[in-house]
Amino acid sequence: MLTLLRKSSQKPVNYWRNDRCARAFWKQHELPAYRQLLEDTIRSLRITANSNWLDLGCGAGRLSLGLWNRSAGEVREIIGMDCAAVNANAFAKLQQQFAQTSQTKVIFQHRDFSDGLGSDYHDYFDGIVSGLAIQYAEHYCPQTNKWTDKAYDFLLAEVYRSLKRHGQFVFSVNVPEPSWGAVALSALRQLPIQKNRLRSLQRLYRMYRYGGWLKKQARQGRFHYLPAETIKEKLARIGFKHIDFQISFANQAFIFSCEKG
Ligand SMILES: C[S@@+](CC[C@H](N)C(=O)[O-])C[C@H]1O[C@@H](n2cnc3c(N)ncnc32)[C@H](O)[C@@H]1O
Repeated sequence: MLTLLRKSSQKPVNYWRNDRCARAFWKQHELPAYRQLLEDTIRSLRITANSNWLDLGCGAGRLSLGLWNRSAGEVREIIGMDCAAVNANAFAKLQQQFAQTSQTKVIFQHRDFSDGLGSDYHDYFDGIVSGLAIQYAEHYCPQTNKWTDKAYDFLLAEVYRSLKRHGQFVFSVNVPEPSWGAVALSALRQLPIQKNRLRSLQRLYRMYRYGGWLKKQARQGRFHYLPAETIKEKLARIGFKHIDFQISFANQAFIFSCEKG
């Protein structure tokens, strides 16, 4: 079962780094709510030929694939960054798929974005996209023994630093106290018409269990399901312009779009 602490003296477990958790989300696109989110996110992207993109918290690379498809294979580079090493396997498959028809360079980078994006990328990306990921940037303050939003704010600043001028940042994050039930319900409605119903149900259950852990951690301030106004303020404070958002994912996520001023 999911336990918060292995031993009281150890750091709390972060399941996102585990293969099992990463794999549980590989089939997220089977959820109708997620497909809607993906579609809405991709539609918001301003993609130009020969542009460099980062997919932040890329998972199995669904957004990378969508971005590449939408550009008709004309983007120069897509870097997928994630803290789960196993996602490299999913990216290797994308690389093979892309290589057959285009010159797009596809790279997977194993990195915890709570520590920033690294020094290689300064004014580098034409666009950064992220699906339900940046909200998991974490920072624990040993002095106060509390979780803070320092890593989240730092990550937003890192995104700004890594973008070229007028570069676009499009990301989705969950609404406060998201209802995974609403997301599951949209999937259950589709279940009777799906071929492998039992497997789909198992996958749904696995994601749902991790969802319980995520919500608990968010209530403790470790993860960040923030109101739209708070996110807008954070983006504006850093210098992002043209901040806009819409709601998607069965009303359980915001999609924000903004650009480097
Ligand atoms: C809900 S999944 C979304 C995956 C993918 N963006 C998609 O749309 O299918 C969240 C992703 O964020 C990644 N993630 C969570 N915390 C992270 C961290 N601190 N650093 C890097 N990636 C992280 C997870 O490993 C996972 O792949």
